[in-house]
Amino acid sequence: VRTIDWQDGHIVAIDQTRLPGTVAWLEISTVGQLVDAIKRLAIRGAPALGAAGALGAALAVRGGGEDRDGELAGLRAARPTAVNLAWGVDRAVARLAEGPDAVLDEALAILDEDVVRNRALGERGADWLAANVHGPVVVQTHCNAGALACVEWGTALGVVRALDERHRLGHVYVDETRPLLQGSRLTSWELTEMGVDHTIIVDSAAATVLARGLADAVVVGADRITANGDVVNKIGTFPLALAAQRAGVPFVVAAPESTIDPSIQTGDEVEIEVRDGDEVLAIGGMPGTATLNYAFDVTPADLVTAIVTEDRIIRPALGERPA
Ligand code: MRU
Repeated sequence: VRTIDWQDGHIVAIDQTRLPGTVAWLEISTVGQLVDAIKRLAIRGAPALGAAGALGAALAVRGGGEDRDGELAGLRAARPTAVNLAWGVDRAVARLAEGPDAVLDEALAILDEDVVRNRALGERGADWLAANVHGPVVVQTHCNAGALACVEWGTALGVVRALDERHRLGHVYVDETRPLLQGSRLTSWELTEMGVDHTIIVDSAAATVLARGLADAVVVGADRITANGDVVNKIGTFPLALAAQRAGVPFVVAAPESTIDPSIQTGDEVEIEVRDGDEVLAIGGMPGTATLNYAFDVTPADLVTAIVTEDRIIRPALGERPA
């Protein structure tokens, strides 16, 4: 099942805010509704944002609204950190001269490609892990980089799926991923659907799991990879990479080529989204207290053992650069 798609003139997408309790589908027929869904993370995850951006461009050009350029600008900026959102909008809009149907065709091509590319990178990642880890591979992951974050299949969880198909998957440790719990809500839901044994840990236990030798590899997705190999991903990824280096565990990033942004040299130049403090205070926080709710962090290239894409493996820690 595609977690985001186009049906009868509108976007259909699984509402990720309702999981794991309820599987509900959103029907989105205006750019305004789409921007709202993206901002509240009903649709989230870098490749899914690329698909949403492209489908949103199709909505904008078909709708014939008066402020089409304003709608497209608002959509591009709905979330700033993942490169895929603006990339998806721009790629679809580039076909506008051929008419609105061409924009929709391009968006649907992005969705089809996403599925194919994720399967390819999942297999490549599984090849790499199977060659570098002896026996069943125990994976630790952070946030959700599964089918929900893409169109189908997933990036980091695509690697997990491919290992599982080969009977080479040992277990999965799932960081819960404060404050919005993409790990304990979404990754755990997907792994349960797949029938994969897994264990949820609080984020503060992530380093201890690695230090105790419980995981063979960390596998995560990415929102943007800069030219030098820095990886921007969900907050908590950087400390996980530090802990992995200390424990001598490979730190693997699974992402499509479209997540690589050659126009930006280092992670320091990427805008890191800061979200509403209420997300931090929601579970027992002192009301009214100041917060600093960074949604993403930058893992420096020298901590990244391998970046696995649909086309290649890049080893930034050995000095290789993606662009
Ligand atoms: O804030 P989110 O949930 O959109 O953050 C998502 C992540 O950080 C994912 O790890 C990333 O987008 C890769 S998804 C294949």
